[in-house]
Amino acid sequence: MKKGIFLSLEGPDGSGKSTQIKYILDFFESRGYETVLTREPGGTSIGEKIRDVILDNENSEMDPMTETMLYAASRAQHVAQVIRPALEAGKVVICDRFVDSSIAYQGFGRDLGDCVAYINEYAIMGCVPDITFLMKLAPEEGIGRIGSGEKDRLESEEISFHRKVYEGYEYLERTYPDRIIGIDASRGIEEIKAEIQKQLEKLIEKK
Ligand code: ADP
Ligand code: TYD
Repeated sequence: MKKGIFLSLEGPDGSGKSTQIKYILDFFESRGYETVLTREPGGTSIGEKIRDVILDNENSEMDPMTETMLYAASRAQHVAQVIRPALEAGKVVICDRFVDSSIAYQGFGRDLGDCVAYINEYAIMGCVPDITFLMKLAPEEGIGRIGSGEKDRLESEEISFHRKVYEGYEYLERTYPDRIIGIDASRGIEEIKAEIQKQLEKLIEKK
């Protein structure tokens, strides 16, 4: 039985997820909650190895279905080993990307469609976030923020790919309005932080 709070952050690469996650962590810790901060792909030692395979620029021949299944494999391990036990112990789990990333990047970006959600049903077995913050920022801007540093295999994709991913996120926001909260991520860091904190206050009031 799930007792904790499961929160995920989503959005294009460079949209400010890692920046805001630190404030979200502070929010819960300063109120005495036990927290687990984690990310996908990764979050377990098996998952981190899978992450290296997926993001390696040398793996340019990777088939989209292989990519989907690797993300799902990393997720299955993550749910079983980290997320579900933490939630059962009443902790707050804060996850940088989760299943919505697969639907946006593989379902929409790679044009694989509905099979991505089906495959992931087996990976998560009902473990769905209570709340998801979607950092809404034009993909061009996110990529611009990352700058000219070394890009991984997904970040190196054409802008047309990232636009399709963004359409996927907009679809998800429309489809799951009770869970997914869209955040205008083009604003300053402090303004975004204040809006997220307001939403978190509401969440803990309801719990
Ligand atoms: P993500 O985790 O989504 O890839 P990051 O939090 O790492 O994004 O942010 C990407 C870059 O943009 C970092 O250099 C970060 O300092 C910067 N950044 C984050 N939030 C903002 C913001 N609201 N406005 C401008 N730059 C930002
Ligand atoms: P990461 O480097 O953690 O994201 P960011 O660049 O936003 O900090 O994520 C690795 C990449 O993997 C990112 O481009 C999104 C992509 N991804 C998918 O394509 N499918 C998925 O299921 C997940 C979790 C991530």
